[in-house]
Amino acid sequence: MKYLVFETPLEAERYAANRIAEIISFRPDCVLGLATGATMEGVYAELVRLYRARQVSFHFCTTFNLDEYIGLPPHDRNSYHFFMKKNLFSQVDLEPDRAHVPDGCAADLAQACAEYEEMIRKAGGLDLQLLGIGHSGHIGFNEPGSAADSKTRVVELCEETMRQNGIYFDAARGEKMPGRAVSMGLGTILAARELLLIATGSRKAEIIRKALQGEISTAVPASLIQRHPDLTVVLDREAAAKLA
Ligand code: F6R
Repeated sequence: MKYLVFETPLEAERYAANRIAEIISFRPDCVLGLATGATMEGVYAELVRLYRARQVSFHFCTTFNLDEYIGLPPHDRNSYHFFMKKNLFSQVDLEPDRAHVPDGCAADLAQACAEYEEMIRKAGGLDLQLLGIGHSGHIGFNEPGSAADSKTRVVELCEETMRQNGIYFDAARGEKMPGRAVSMGLGTILAARELLLIATGSRKAEIIRKALQGEISTAVPASLIQRHPDLTVVLDREAAAKLA
């Protein structure tokens, strides 16, 4: 495991974006696993900047996102389809038919999940999986208790995650956070050839300590990444504050 601790969130985000750009420069047709959430906004902003500066092209890349809420269509502003389109897909030269996000509105969710796994397999597996971490210890939406060998499937979001992400849903506009999502499994994530986890801010300090220096247990799903042979953890000073 490689830890990198930066003074500010911006520096951490820039490092993560540059590592992704570097992987693309080594292998233009690489397969990237992508994440959403507040932490990723800065990472994608930097990737868009690099693209505009002609320092990276996504033209030959294939991407697979980690997760999507069940019942939110792609045009819903809280969906992860919407997030990805707004923050990355519409801003760079990624081919739309090679940018994949799980379908949270499929009539047959189990079948859609199996097909997602099959698409990742057919693409040759994930070269890099970008990860954030939730307060519950989730990666993707793999909540505590998720099996280490789990695959893409329907998951129930835990109370902690409902609190963490509930703030983005505006009840006054009739928005309600779904309690279920489709998420790539821990097994899918751990099979990626490289993992890049980024966390910033003091609110992440305690879960970062548990995930990286605590016992490896499905009670803290992110702790399973400690076993991965090619893991880089990118933190700012605040998120790293409780590490030994
Ligand atoms: C979402 C995902 C989640 C987030 C995590 C952190 O695709 O993979 O695991 O990375 O919930 O979210 P933020 O960055 O909003 O703190």
